[in-house]
Amino acid sequence: MLVATSKGKPMNYSNDINTEDVSNNQKWIVKNRVSDDVFTNRVNFLDYYYRVSLQTSQRLTMSNVLLGYRRMGKTEIFRRVVNKLFFEQNKKSPESVVPIYYTFSDQIKDDIQFATEYLETFLRFYLGFYLDEPKLIKKASGYNELRETAKKAMANVPSSETLNWILTTIENITDYPVPAKVAIELPRRVSDIDDTNIVVFLDEFQNANLPQFDFNVVGYYQEGADSPTCPHFLTGSAMSILLMEMVGKGALFGRFKFKKIEAMTSYHSSDLALKVAQKYKADINTNIAPVIAQRCGGNPYYITALIQHAAELQRCIHTEADVNDILAIDITSGFIWGELSDQLHKWITRINQSNITKWILYLASLEENGRDDDPSDDKEIDLTKIQKALKVKEHVDVDISKIRDIMIMLSRGDLLECRALSFFRIKDPVLSDFIKVWGKIEMDRMKFDQVKNDLRNQYYKFSKKSLDEYKGYLAEIHMSQILLASQKKILPGKWFHQEQSIEMPEFSFVNHRFRLSSGISKEIDLLGAAGPEAWVCQSKWVEKTKIGINVLKNLLEQSTEVKKNMNLLFMKQWIFAHDGLTKDAELFAKEKNIFWSDRIDLDALLKHLNLRPLYSFGAL
Ligand SMILES: Nc1ncnc2c1ncn2[C@@H]1O[C@H](COP(=O)(O)OP(=O)(O)OP(=O)(O)O)[C@@H](O)[C@H]1O
Ligand SMILES: [Mg+2]
Repeated sequence: MLVATSKGKPMNYSNDINTEDVSNNQKWIVKNRVSDDVFTNRVNFLDYYYRVSLQTSQRLTMSNVLLGYRRMGKTEIFRRVVNKLFFEQNKKSPESVVPIYYTFSDQIKDDIQFATEYLETFLRFYLGFYLDEPKLIKKASGYNELRETAKKAMANVPSSETLNWILTTIENITDYPVPAKVAIELPRRVSDIDDTNIVVFLDEFQNANLPQFDFNVVGYYQEGADSPTCPHFLTGSAMSILLMEMVGKGALFGRFKFKKIEAMTSYHSSDLALKVAQKYKADINTNIAPVIAQRCGGNPYYITALIQHAAELQRCIHTEADVNDILAIDITSGFIWGELSDQLHKWITRINQSNITKWILYLASLEENGRDDDPSDDKEIDLTKIQKALKVKEHVDVDISKIRDIMIMLSRGDLLECRALSFFRIKDPVLSDFIKVWGKIEMDRMKFDQVKNDLRNQYYKFSKKSLDEYKGYLAEIHMSQILLASQKKILPGKWFHQEQSIEMPEFSFVNHRFRLSSGISKEIDLLGAAGPEAWVCQSKWVEKTKIGINVLKNLLEQSTEVKKNMNLLFMKQWIFAHDGLTKDAELFAKEKNIFWSDRIDLDALLKHLNLRPLYSFGAL
């Protein structure tokens, strides 16, 4: 239960902000945490993992690791794919693929405990699938019950001999010199021997190596990862450690394909904000949804946490000031505080160098950063400044090389970014602010209320735009989603007031509020870059007024600057004008080949691409 925290220490919220259904009717073997009415997008990932899992039967699938910053929805994707594989296949077919799902705990201390648990999980999923018995998996029954079920199921599995062998291996696991290796390799041996198909989904894979417990089973995956009959799909919550220390070097190097999950686009994260608001009956204004999305960096966890907290506190979110206030409260004392302090604590325990590490992380967070939405606007963290601050704060002399080593470890936990031995703050606006808040409380021993108030004050100074400007931004995120969703497709020209159809390129990036490194100072609403071609777009949600020629001239100017600055060959200019263009502007657009769409055109385009139409503000 959440309680409004106006004073005192931060509350200990549970990190789980699940939006799962209370009903038990859903088809699941591993429970998804997000209900269908809230689950947003990520279709490409669901389709991809489902498709490549099925292709195991053709021996076409390579092992794969899903990489992404914290709380982007990796676990949710794996769980949904596992459930789909269980419920949507003909289990009697020799082509069918058995899904196994295992989550590494961060408390594994012993090889035998791990091996036993791993093998029992495998047996539970294996039997559950062939017997078509979801309960066997859901109930997590003990070994004796599993054994009884297995003994009665000999006729229902591909080979009774193999099933007996699995049971014998589990029962004699302590006799093997390296039990963890035997356990990890067993699924692959089973599918090899019987020529069946198995896919193993492994979550929290960073815990396959726990230095603080001297536990490391990563190398044993070499055989499994190479198997065409039993590919392994991995994910976990510290992307850099997975990449740099686990699959990017050593025994597993070159054995995995990588797939990267990014923050949700502004369109999808706004959509999520509205869905969560509806589910929790939070009172939010539609045109503020993109502001929530932006302030949360497109991270679905932060978005959900913020809105759920607002609903609990019965606070409305009608203006940017409301967003700032709730965000400040949540970072300092809500779900986000609970979640991030837990993550930080776990990581620092893992590094095992407690106090200096905490100071370094906090001091690095105080360094000025560039804009979170602009990767070219990075500022390198100055290690000598940290060294001096350590002397003042902790009265210790720490070598630059030691500071660097600790910063490398922090970057492995995705708490800093490390590029060619230079360090930058991570591009996660919420995490950045959280670390500052946490440091002030934990390291500088500042009073909690004071810190919360400072953050509210800092957020209050954020640019305050009028609601009409937010409408423009709302249309802009629909425009960018149109660019993304129509890549490599042909769109009818009529919605752009063009006679010819429009061949859409494949974009390398589509950025909002784009600033050129030199030249014009004004931001470009939206820029889509596709090699030699670029789309320069502007959004004008102005009702009851038609857009005139000057706006188009400005767009052309921007386009010319972009062309020159980025050395491009082909430019497209596209403007959204809610109520259309004046007669003069229409003629100008035709003459200069400027694409334009009014509200009806934009809604038609959105519908054509199966996207949500623009909102109707009159109805709110
Ligand atoms: N597609 C989605 N639609 C709606 N909400 C989502 C979606 N994906 C994730 N979430 C929200 O974000 C939370 C975190 O998701 P999840 O645990 O799957 O992330 P993760 O990437 O596995 O995190 P970690 O890095 O900590 O392991 C979910 O509990 C849910 O609230
Ligand atoms: Mg996860």
